[in-house]
Amino acid sequence: MLYLALRMVCCALLCWIPVRASGCPLRCACSEAAHTVKCVSKDLRSVPSGIPGYTRNLFITGNQISRIGPESFKGLDNITTLSLSNNRITEVESQTFSGLRSLRTLDLSSNQLSVIHPEAFTVPGNTLRELNLSRVLHNHSAVMDLTNSLRWSTLGQLRTLDLSGNRLIYLPPNTFSYLGSLRRLVLTNNSLVAIHNGTFSGLSSLMQLDLTLNTLRTIQEEGLAELDSLPAGTRLLLGENPWTCICGMEPFAAWLNSSRGRVEDAEVLVCAFPPDMRNTILLRLAAAGPTGTDGDKVALGCLVVGEGADLALQTSYVFLGIVLGFVGLVFLFVLYLNRRGIKKRINGLREACREVWEGYHYRYELDSDPRLSQVSCTTADI
Ligand SMILES: *[C@@H]1O[C@H](CO)[C@@H](O)[C@H](O)[C@H]1NC(C)=O
Ligand SMILES: *[C@@H]1O[C@H](CO)[C@@H](O)[C@H](O)[C@H]1NC(C)=O
Ligand SMILES: *[C@@H]1O[C@H](CO)[C@@H](O)[C@H](O)[C@H]1NC(C)=O
Ligand SMILES: *[C@@H]1O[C@H](CO)[C@@H](O)[C@H](O)[C@H]1NC(C)=O
Ligand SMILES: *[C@@H]1O[C@H](CO)[C@@H](O)[C@H](O)[C@H]1NC(C)=O
Ligand SMILES: *[C@@H]1O[C@H](CO)[C@@H](O)[C@H](O)[C@H]1NC(C)=O
Repeated sequence: MLYLALRMVCCALLCWIPVRASGCPLRCACSEAAHTVKCVSKDLRSVPSGIPGYTRNLFITGNQISRIGPESFKGLDNITTLSLSNNRITEVESQTFSGLRSLRTLDLSSNQLSVIHPEAFTVPGNTLRELNLSRVLHNHSAVMDLTNSLRWSTLGQLRTLDLSGNRLIYLPPNTFSYLGSLRRLVLTNNSLVAIHNGTFSGLSSLMQLDLTLNTLRTIQEEGLAELDSLPAGTRLLLGENPWTCICGMEPFAAWLNSSRGRVEDAEVLVCAFPPDMRNTILLRLAAAGPTGTDGDKVALGCLVVGEGADLALQTSYVFLGIVLGFVGLVFLFVLYLNRRGIKKRINGLREACREVWEGYHYRYELDSDPRLSQVSCTTADI
């Protein structure tokens, strides 16, 4: 009997103590020693309440959370690392993280954001250093929201920004203008087709720019100037783009040759198109140069393609001339076949003209001088 009572007390203590001591929310695992709380793949629909104040690392990943706002993280001012990756977050409200005064790393990757408020990522004291927005945008329409939030969220101390896998087609100019401390910008696995003047302006501390796995076919001189305007030490990654080795890409090839030191993967960039140039190393084209000698010309494809283009232009002019000549001949022939009818019609027309002209002339004479008409009337009277 005593034994049983003892056991019950023990059990009650055991059951009670952890709840009091750690105060761990349901379906989460808490470690006070590691200052870490994990709520991983637990079907949670919102950020659980009762997360202990000692928490520095909070992982609420692989759940069904759809909305987060300032009330989600009340009283958690010790959090330095927050991951909400792999949820269903569609909206990040203004000042959502403004209670997290120690936040350094924020991972929102793999969500479906369609509404991002301008001050969504604001953290007091500019403590945020790393922001992971990989595979986070619902579709390209959210880009303007994203741009605005990067502008207004006071991210002046941000060091790393991951925007990979967002199907970005176009980056508005000055998107990164307010990220003056950014060291690493990850734009891999998007659909960027061009770099424009202003695309990367303001990135005065950049050290690495990752543009791999995009849809760049070449980089125009405007884009090359933009890349050249990045800080001198910036390393670039340009691999796995569909580089298209046709005439017109020589400036890019030459730039690549002279930027070997900055383009980390310069040696392995290859042509994807046209088919006969597939897997040709881009630097080899640069080595040939547009005025390269003998075999080199063929390697670059430029001179050959250029002549071909001229020839094609000439051919098209000749063809146009022939077609116009033929149309003219047909026209003349039709005229010839119809010559009688046309003659008749022209005569008819001439008659009609003459009648009209005479009628007009007559009326004009009558109307032009009332005295004249009077005179004619009076003479008639006489
Ligand atoms: C944050 O951590 C400090 C020191 O570990 C502690 O004194 C403080 O109570 C914690 N904050 C909260 C809200 O628990
Ligand atoms: C961002 O998150 C993705 C997926 O969770 C991960 O693969 C990637 O390494 C992260 N980026 C950075 C810069 O840590
Ligand atoms: C993006 O998604 C929203 C909401 O689903 C939709 O209204 C909008 O038309 C989509 N935009 C594009 C470019 O697909
Ligand atoms: C690229 O991003 C898409 C989503 O936009 C994702 O499905 C795909 O797995 C990513 N590919 C790589 C190689 O990361
Ligand atoms: C880029 O734009 C700035 C002004 O926004 C202008 O001063 C500069 O000349 C432009 N550069 C090029 C290469 O067009
Ligand atoms: C390629 O760069 C090297 C120096 O890095 C230079 O000597 C050579 O002339 C360049 N070739 C072309 C075609 O620009």
